[in-house]
Amino acid sequence: MGFKFVHLTDTHIQPELKASEGVKKAIEAIRKSRPAFCLHGGDVVMDAAAVDRARAEQVYDLWGEASSNLGVPVHYACGNHDVFALTGPEQGKRDTDKQYWQRRVFQSERFKTFDQENWRFVVLDVVQTERDRWWAELDTEQLKWLDDLLRKTDKRQPLVFLTHVPLFTAINQFTSGTTVAVKDTQIVKNAKTFFELTERHNVKAVFQGHTHVVEEVVYNDVHYITGGAVCGDWWKGPRLGRHPEGFIEAEAKGEELKWRYIPYGWKAQK
Ligand SMILES: [Fe+2]
Repeated sequence: MGFKFVHLTDTHIQPELKASEGVKKAIEAIRKSRPAFCLHGGDVVMDAAAVDRARAEQVYDLWGEASSNLGVPVHYACGNHDVFALTGPEQGKRDTDKQYWQRRVFQSERFKTFDQENWRFVVLDVVQTERDRWWAELDTEQLKWLDDLLRKTDKRQPLVFLTHVPLFTAINQFTSGTTVAVKDTQIVKNAKTFFELTERHNVKAVFQGHTHVVEEVVYNDVHYITGGAVCGDWWKGPRLGRHPEGFIEAEAKGEELKWRYIPYGWKAQK
């Protein structure tokens, strides 16, 4: 018993900087891990939020082509760059909610749950939008759904969550400064509600993206793991000079979860 899965995040696929080649190289490496499934932490493309429909179609087509070789199911958390026409020339004409993104990644729900062996996985959607603005928050509809789900979940069942924007991070501590407030575009605004809802459950890990750094914060035995980025520093090299282009290979066995970050050997193209 036991299974492997891959957490890849922030692919930011685009025609520039040979990003498609980079993503294809990452996918070859992921296939070698032989995961049962993949969790994609969001920001699939660069970008759909600030561009016209032709560009959005182009970058999602690139992802469709690159990811067609994965050969295993992919579960997606929505990224802020994945929502179509948040700003830019088609702002105000966008598809309602996140339907464009859902259609392009073949995902019928914006948040969802699935089980693998004795483990339960929960995919969250923390990207909230209003006109030309976005922020990270768990909305009322989703919190109610999560509360219902947790009531139906045995408190001993191991749980893993997936979110684009971190629920817990020390990013500002090592970038902006230790006393600089974290913005609601850097961390989920109401993560405290998440802690309160889940604290009596057997949450093992929360896989996070968005900041492109590799980081693990442990609180109340929950591992908040930020999984770097397939694109590193948006295809310009390692993020902050130290977090290379990569993804996480994870293994769940019994009650144990192990993970490691795997750089797949991409060198930034000029
Ligand atoms: Fe990103």
